[in-house]
Amino acid sequence: MILPLSLEAVAYGVGQKPIITPLSLELSAGASTILLGANGAGKSVLMRLMHGLLSPTAGRVVWHEPEAARQRRLQAMVFQRPVMLRRSALENVRYVLRAAGEDASDSRALQALDEVGLRHVASQPARALSGGEQQRLALARAWALHPEVLFLDEPSASLDPSATREIEALVQAFDAAGTKIIMATHNLGQARRLGDEVLFLHQGRLVERAPVEAFFTRPASPEAAAFIRGELPWV
Ligand SMILES: Nc1ncnc2c1ncn2[C@@H]1O[C@H](COP(=O)(O)OP(=O)(O)OP(=O)(O)O)[C@@H](O)[C@H]1O
Ligand SMILES: [Mg+2]
Repeated sequence: MILPLSLEAVAYGVGQKPIITPLSLELSAGASTILLGANGAGKSVLMRLMHGLLSPTAGRVVWHEPEAARQRRLQAMVFQRPVMLRRSALENVRYVLRAAGEDASDSRALQALDEVGLRHVASQPARALSGGEQQRLALARAWALHPEVLFLDEPSASLDPSATREIEALVQAFDAAGTKIIMATHNLGQARRLGDEVLFLHQGRLVERAPVEAFFTRPASPEAAAFIRGELPWV
């Protein structure tokens, strides 16, 4: 197990600009964790710090698993804007399997495409797929590695409702298979459907951590209350 993940007074800044102010928390297996906050609140930066793509400028990110290679191998991330290699959908999956030192056979990659309903486009250029298909391919690449922790940065941003539901069904399946989900989203319905707890960020600060229903019905901070009102245009 690489979990739990501990952030010990983690901060991140660029030059004089603080982007994440010192923040400590522990994330354990099981509960799905949703990151919420306005544009620019620091959600993507925080996930990159957790995933190890950025190094904190202060504090430490500590996984239960001490070995760096296993830490990397057991976590995957799907980015806000998926980057597709200029190759077929199948080769995109084989590439990540190879890079992780896993069996990169066609049959294993096809199985990953199958799980996200993309077997029929296996030989098509990944960059020619629709936005929703590219997001599902990004999920297939992450899922092919059967990670213990899956970071998802707004995986259904700019997708239509049916493509969004497809992504949500996949995330639910990964969760049911025992993968810890850590996801940023602006879709509050999605946060309620998929999340168990919310981490709410405001201007680089972790303002609130709460079970998902408590967060939406009884936000403890004025910042969270204003955010919920602002994101629900009919209120
Ligand atoms: N390398 C960088 N240099 C300077 N500023 C940066 C850098 N990376 C991020 N930032 C700033 O840090 C802040 C947080 O960015 P981040 O991408 O984490 O926001 P976010 O919560 O993911 O927003 P969104 O909802 O729009 O995706 C932003 O103001 C951004 O401009
Ligand atoms: Mg972001």
